[in-house]
Amino acid sequence: MKIYFTILALSLGILSCGGSENQTSTTDAEVKTEVENPENPSYDPKRGSGKFTKVDIDPAIDLVMVKKGKSNFDLKCGSCHRLSSERLVGPGWKGVTSRRAPEWIMNFITNTDEMINKDPQVQAQLEICLVRMPNQNLSDADARSLYEFMRQNDAKK
Ligand code: HEC
Repeated sequence: MKIYFTILALSLGILSCGGSENQTSTTDAEVKTEVENPENPSYDPKRGSGKFTKVDIDPAIDLVMVKKGKSNFDLKCGSCHRLSSERLVGPGWKGVTSRRAPEWIMNFITNTDEMINKDPQVQAQLEICLVRMPNQNLSDADARSLYEFMRQNDAKK
């Protein structure tokens, strides 16, 4: 009986490819293991690895950045990501700004290869999505405005 439920939980997780509550709770446990992993002590799963150590976020959403972020989204991200929680090739973006810190998101989208190799949650997603997100050659300003666009998307009901 116990085994049956485990299998059920696993298959639900697999179908969702990131974004769902199920996914989040299983991967939280993996992150903890990673922090204690002596082979990779320098990786910080909260902020990821890359140049962004602290991003200051104003409580008010910057609409100029949102606009720039949206045009980058249309050009470079929309073929693989939906704005809802549904998966396309990669996970849907709904809720991404509460799942991840701004530093993590900006490091991930500017330092994609290294983050995919190091982040245990992304590793888990990679097994589910089967596609590796390609590096999108974004400037720091592009990354920041994409984050603002995600924030605005999450602020919508
Ligand atoms: C070719 C498809 C593809 C494109 C284009 C793409 N991504 Fe991704 N993205 C993925 C996949 C697949 C993942 C899941 C991680 C993995 O397997 O690499 C992902 C994961 C992410 C995540 C983590 C989401 C989460 O919930 O953990 C963010 C943030 C992200 N992408 C942002 C972007 C941005 C910003 C762009 C455009 C500049 C972009 N992606 C373009 C495929 C893509």
